[in-house]
Amino acid sequence: MIADPLLAISDLAIAFRTGHGVARVLDGVNLSVGRGRIMGLVGESGCGKTTLARAVLSVLAPNALIEGGTIHFGGLDLLALPRARLETEVKGRRITFVPQDPYGAFNPLFRVGDQMMEVMKWKSPRRQPYERGFGPLLTRFPRARYKTDREALIALLNEVQIPDPERALAKLPGAFSGGQRQRLLIAMALMTNPDLIIADEPTTALDVTIQAQILKLLKRLARERGVSILLTTHDLGTAYEICDEVTVMYAGQDVETAPVAAFFTHPRHPYTARLLESLPSPNREIKEIGGEVPSLLAPPQGCRFHPRCERASPECTASRPAKSGTGGHIVRCFHPLTMAAEVAP
Ligand SMILES: Nc1ncnc2c1ncn2[C@@H]1O[C@H](COP(=O)(O)OP(=O)(O)OP(=O)(O)O)[C@@H](O)[C@H]1O
Ligand code: SF4
Ligand SMILES: [Mg+2]
Repeated sequence: MIADPLLAISDLAIAFRTGHGVARVLDGVNLSVGRGRIMGLVGESGCGKTTLARAVLSVLAPNALIEGGTIHFGGLDLLALPRARLETEVKGRRITFVPQDPYGAFNPLFRVGDQMMEVMKWKSPRRQPYERGFGPLLTRFPRARYKTDREALIALLNEVQIPDPERALAKLPGAFSGGQRQRLLIAMALMTNPDLIIADEPTTALDVTIQAQILKLLKRLARERGVSILLTTHDLGTAYEICDEVTVMYAGQDVETAPVAAFFTHPRHPYTARLLESLPSPNREIKEIGGEVPSLLAPPQGCRFHPRCERASPECTASRPAKSGTGGHIVRCFHPLTMAAEVAP
């Protein structure tokens, strides 16, 4: 358990209205991110990682129903906070975002510098309280801070290792590779001096060699600036590379949270153990996880992993196990593996 976390999500339940019924996507999810820590949220496609990320960013789709739970961030109750405060204090300011697709994030017709300065115009940490009243009247960049904001942007471009930032700002997005665009987007996420960055699969669109560079950069900048990161990924290698802690989700339920080393060497939840055994390794054969991920329109009762779990007992189908464990290694299972359990690396 993290003492005084920056982000604390408790029992979050989110469903989506669909043409086929209500999909119960997040089922009482718990997750905390400590100050200056990097939390990896891992799980297979469709387990609800993006839904959780979007809930923290307050950008859920209109057909989403928040059925329960809380999201506390830096002393604020985000789900109860008035919309106006959310917009002016939190969204895109104290919590920012690195998207998955660096190609779709920029408008191809406008210079990168103009697009980044437009964000700076509204969200600069040097923005004065009196500017808020201008609202849509703020058509021109306030002169008093243009120079300092532009200098801050150039310094950031240096930090993310974009060569010749002055010239880079004058280019169109098409002039940059995917990796460079992701560097620009990391700079954009840092522009407001946020406390938390949500990075939703930030490297899946990039070549493998570039992925490692971007992850290293993200980790270095987060450490230097004391920023927390919630990073979602379906790739355990990515989580291993940069995270301090990892939370695993299965079909919309959090099943295990652990410091990264313990997660990889001593998984306690049967699903986590199977997930690790499904990774390639020179020391053992790859084992597939038998069965299928359940439909979220009619999910299994209790522990949603029970139809695929060798350890399942009647109580697993009746109710969801509570959290147990110590030292930041938390598992939600009626019959967890013992601490001695070890998956061969
Ligand atoms: N707006 C929506 N309306 C209906 N269903 C949705 C909506 N958004 C997401 N879902 C469903 O919620 C489930 C979780 O989706 P989500 O995108 O959160 O998963 P994910 O873990 O991010 O997957 P991936 O690894 O593929 O990105 C999926 O079954 C998805 O189809
Ligand atoms: S709670 Fe039961 S079904 Fe779920 S993982 Fe644990 S043993 Fe398996
Ligand atoms: Mg996703």
